[in-house]
Parts: sequence; C-alpha cells; structure tokens
Amino acid sequence: MPHSSAEHIELTERYAAHNYHPLPVVLESGEGCWVTDVEGRRYLDCLAGYSALNFGHCHPRLVARATEQLQKLTLTSRAFYNDEFGPFARDLAALTGKDMVLPMNTGAEAVETAIKVSRRWGYQVKGVPAGRASIITMDGNFHGRTTTIVSFSTDHVATADYGPFTPGFPRVKYGDVDAIANAVDETTVAVLFEPVQGEGGVILPPDGFLRDLRALCRERDILMVADEVQSGLGRAGTTFACDREGVTPDIYILGKALGGGLYPVSAIAADADILGVITPGSHGSTFGGNPLAAAVGREVIAMLEEGEYQQRAQVLGARLEAGLRTMVGQGVVGIRVRGLWAGVDLDPGLLSGRELCEGLLERGVLAKDTHGSTIRLAPPLVATEEEIDILLDALRDTLDEAQSQEAQSQQAQP
Ligand SMILES: Cc1ncc(COP(=O)(O)O)c(C=O)c1O
Repeated sequence: MPHSSAEHIELTERYAAHNYHPLPVVLESGEGCWVTDVEGRRYLDCLAGYSALNFGHCHPRLVARATEQLQKLTLTSRAFYNDEFGPFARDLAALTGKDMVLPMNTGAEAVETAIKVSRRWGYQVKGVPAGRASIITMDGNFHGRTTTIVSFSTDHVATADYGPFTPGFPRVKYGDVDAIANAVDETTVAVLFEPVQGEGGVILPPDGFLRDLRALCRERDILMVADEVQSGLGRAGTTFACDREGVTPDIYILGKALGGGLYPVSAIAADADILGVITPGSHGSTFGGNPLAAAVGREVIAMLEEGEYQQRAQVLGARLEAGLRTMVGQGVVGIRVRGLWAGVDLDPGLLSGRELCEGLLERGVLAKDTHGSTIRLAPPLVATEEEIDILLDALRDTLDEAQSQEAQSQQAQP
C-alpha cells in the first residue's frame, strides 16, 4: 500500500489514462471546506468538485442519510418501484415547479436525456419534419463528454479526433438572442444553453438574455432547455441561475450538487406535455433513480428548501467580489462573479492560470484553471467569511510574488 504523495501520483500516472492534468496533491479526507492530503497538510477547497460539493465535503446531514440508506436498500433498477424514488421525484418536481422528472446519474447523461426528449417533443408535438430536428447551441458551451455532446463543443481539445460528429446542433454566439432568432428554422426544436458558462470561465450572459430567450422560445414554439448542472442548486445565489431574471425554462437539466458530492445524481425536470413523450423502453439507466441516489437527492432538496445556502452564496459572493476587485490592475485583468462563483482573468504576461493555481496550492488553497489565464473559484457554500478571506489573501500573495519576480527579471535585463 503506497503512502506518500509521490507514490500515489506515480501509480495514477502509470496505471490510469491521462485524461486529466491534476495539481500535484493527493487528498485523503475532507470536512466542510477543508481537505487533507496523505502527508497531513490541509487545504481550503475552492473548486468544490466543480460545484458538486456545494454543501462541502462529507456534510453530516447528507452522510447520515446516505449511511442509513446504504444499510437498507441501494439498487433496485427501475424494473421495480422503490420507496425512495417517488418522494424524490415529487420533491424535485416541487423544487423546479415542474410536473415531473426523469432521473439519470451524471450531468452528461441528463443533457443527453434533454436532447432526446426535445427531439421527440419536436417530432410528436411540434411536428418538425422526420429525422431533421435541430437544437441551437452556444459558442463556448460545456455540456459534458459524450460523442453527441462534444459534437457541438467549440473546444478543440475536447473534440480532436473524436469524429464523426452528431449533426443537428447549429451554434451561435453565447448570449445573443438575435443570433438565436436568426438561427431558428422549421427544424428547430430547442435552444440548449448554460445560464452561466461555468467551464467557459464563469461567462455571464448580458442582462435580459434569459428573459428575452424565454420570450423568443415561447413565440417560436421551441423548448428553452437550461443546463443548470453547474449553475443550479444554490451556486449562483439563487436556487437556479434562471431565477435571477424570474425565468422558468421548459426543461431544467440538473446534476452535480444534486448528489451532495456523495454520489452521482442527475435529472431533468419538465412539464407533462414535454416529458410525457417518454414511454416505457424508450430511455433508461440501470442506476438512474436508485434508492441511494434518491435518498441523497431528497436530502439535498430539503436543504435547499431552507434558502440558507442560496443566501450564503450571495453574501459570500459579494465579499469575494469586493476582494477580487482590489486585485484588478495588480495581475488581474478581469473578474466575473455570480453568487459564490467567480471567473478571474489573469494578465497572461504575468502568469498562467495553472501557475496561479500552483501558487495557491503552496499557500494551502485548491483552485483550478479553466483554460489559458482564466481560473474559476467556487468554494463550498458552507464557507465562512474568514475562509473567503483566506482565499483572497492567498490570491493576493501569489500575485504579489509573481509581480515582484517580474520586476526583478526586468531589472536584470540589460
Ligand atoms: C453545465 C454542465 N453540464 C454538464 C456537465 C457534465 O456533467 P458530468 O461531468 O457529471 O457528466 C458539466 C460538467 O462540468 C457542466 O458544467
């Protein structure tokens, strides 16, 4: 049994495919916002499992509920009913204000589900020509990793040598309702979008985009499909990021935090006139809606119903934003904040996102670059004001060091 970080890293690099480029830290345990590595060093986790850990690591309420369920019943498959799934479906329908839900496991599966449902709705309800349904997507999107989903990605790294790709996904500029309107034709069944582009670098659409898109979709009889896998469930300061403009999409896609960071749980939610197109045998998943997932998901929903986490995201996000603003011009060239979620653009001449994250790691803070010189900060919503200040201090310190190194190297030049 290996013990040191170096040994674990070597094993991972040797025996696992290199589909990630992790920071060199090997984590062993976690509680709240903090994780501990195999050498006993503690780190403030400001990535929070790409927002799957909105409630922090090993939240006692979620662990207790999962443990209880683990000892009782974990998997039935939906060939049978189980006593956790019905209540979960009811509670998630209530949280989203929709008639019904369809459970899956990962975010990508839920996106695939929304694509299938939208296409079926298009053929069976809207009456688009057979085999021609199209779904409008956005530049800079991230919806997951399946072959169909990467078919409409604009990220070369995610798509290279994975073709042939799935047709039927025209793409337009993110946040541009006029461009969407121009792309609509007789084949359009839906617009698939992220209310905030998380993987893109916490890219915020212009104010009014969600409202205008809602109106357009209604007017042109197309489904508004909001991928809230990362933006939903408190992260953006509201239960759903669409709430900010008082907008309800036709289909919500949820994942990540729905499983409380304990277990993969995803789902889509929609009204019966849309989800009613799904019939026995036409879609499914061995694990989707299993009793363990349903128990954890239901506890997450109960926690969100209290509104405290959404409120925390707003309060802590304002503090994070105020602190980040003081760094603009000091190595930071741009910030975007929504709830407790920030995209930080660094001066690429000073340091890359990866270098900043390495600097943060040395200072006991975990974060991840999205691409190039942009990093994303998403601490768990259970963070305290002091923990946000620890993050800000570590950022300031790392930037100060990069700036003084830069100044020294300029002085050294003849
Ligand atoms: C908006 C969005 N949709 C879908 C996904 C895919 O989720 P998963 O990795 O669970 O398949 C992600 C993951 O980052 C995401 O951010």
